[in-house]
Amino acid sequence: MSSNRTLIRGGLVITAAEETHADVLVEGSRVVALAAHGSDTAAGWSAARTIDATGKYVIPGGVDAHTHMEMPFGGTFASDTFETGTRAAAWGGTTTIIDFAIQSRGGSLAEGLDAWHEKANGHCAIDYAFHMIMSDVNESSLKEMDKLVAAGVSSFKLFTAYPGVFLSDDGQILRAMQRAASNGGLVMTHAENGPAIDVLVEQALARGERDPRYHGEVRNALLEAEATHRVIRLSQVAGAPLYVVHVSAREAVAELARARDEGLPVFGETCPQYLFLSTDNLAEPDFEGAKYVCSTPLRPREHQAALWRGLRTNDLQVVSTDHCPFCFKGQKEMGRGDFSRIPNGMPGVENRMDLLHQAVVEGRISRRRWIEIACATPARMFGLYPKKGTISPGADADIVIYDPDAEQVMSAGTHHMNVDYSAYEGRRVTGRVETVLSRGVPVVDKRAYVGHAGHGAYLPRGICQFLDGGSAG
Ligand code: URP
Ligand code: ZN
Ligand code: ZN
Repeated sequence: MSSNRTLIRGGLVITAAEETHADVLVEGSRVVALAAHGSDTAAGWSAARTIDATGKYVIPGGVDAHTHMEMPFGGTFASDTFETGTRAAAWGGTTTIIDFAIQSRGGSLAEGLDAWHEKANGHCAIDYAFHMIMSDVNESSLKEMDKLVAAGVSSFKLFTAYPGVFLSDDGQILRAMQRAASNGGLVMTHAENGPAIDVLVEQALARGERDPRYHGEVRNALLEAEATHRVIRLSQVAGAPLYVVHVSAREAVAELARARDEGLPVFGETCPQYLFLSTDNLAEPDFEGAKYVCSTPLRPREHQAALWRGLRTNDLQVVSTDHCPFCFKGQKEMGRGDFSRIPNGMPGVENRMDLLHQAVVEGRISRRRWIEIACATPARMFGLYPKKGTISPGADADIVIYDPDAEQVMSAGTHHMNVDYSAYEGRRVTGRVETVLSRGVPVVDKRAYVGHAGHGAYLPRGICQFLDGGSAG
């Protein structure tokens, strides 16, 4: 009778809403009940498997709403496959990723989505879903958006950057937003002024400025702020909600804050690399700075305070990784002598939950805010809540037993991502994942990997759950 039950005893259960000293009863793939430690209810429970979580946190599995496994970029591919990347995610306490399928220029959304299903199906260790990158907004792809929303791909990334590759012009972005306003979709934007950046790249290279640090200089913070302002106003004209991805500049945070003060349904995401790293890393000698080339770029240290403040004031709602790893050897090296040829992207899917816990340890955010920005809000934002992002009766039993006192040193020597460097090499943090359940099934068990490729299931999503009269948080 209790053979498919797991009981998690003695831990502190932390969700975005509350912290409770409770035992958690899991039956099959779902949470069925929580009850106070030592209560008659909890004492009456029996299970085939009991996990002792005394002294540990019991938290929802992380939801990383921004990853790029096997993404083609700049003549190469992101080095994590769905298999290696989702395994590393699980090691880091993340049990759901939302990756980006890509529409090719001249191709349909359906073709792009099929290609990404092909890459992921049968290979993932944890559950996964897709957003759709629109590289070719036209009558046909606009119509297709309705079908995708109905089928569970309810968010669409559009770019004001990368002319000739991903860039959509303002008219195309407006049309996509109008369509989203009518079909319930959520437009996500990569907001940087790509054409202006390309001019600055050309001028920098002509001056002989070729090192990785110039990547940060040409991708001026004002060009992020300008594009952020523009997409906010386009979304306002369209009457559509907006989610701005990988916000790094304080001036862009200010644009989001202003729009939210005006009552607009505008949301913002930042990433650990912008919170913990800076242009100092981009300037590391011997081409080491290439490890930190991503777009939007790392900013001078002074920007970090605005990002942390945005997370506390809820002008930023989500921390995702934008995990898009390229090995230093053979991939980042493609840009030696020309920073514009360095593939854009950084690893981090395994590090996010720990880095944000470190922010809890340092008093930057509360424990509940940690869970809110890393689990609950991304699940709500992208139509997965309360199946994902919380621990409550009926939710998927995606649960992490987290040791808040364990010490670890982040390193490429010990991480599980398929990339030959760590962006956080040598960084000491307090807190570590101990055990991970995905739909009740152990994936990591007391720091041993017991998961397998193919356990992870595709998740069709609903629409953004912040649009029925509330703003996030
Ligand atoms: O540098 C980055 N962020 N690479 C991944 C693609 C994107 O724009 O998110
Ligand atoms: Zn982007
Ligand atoms: Zn990205």
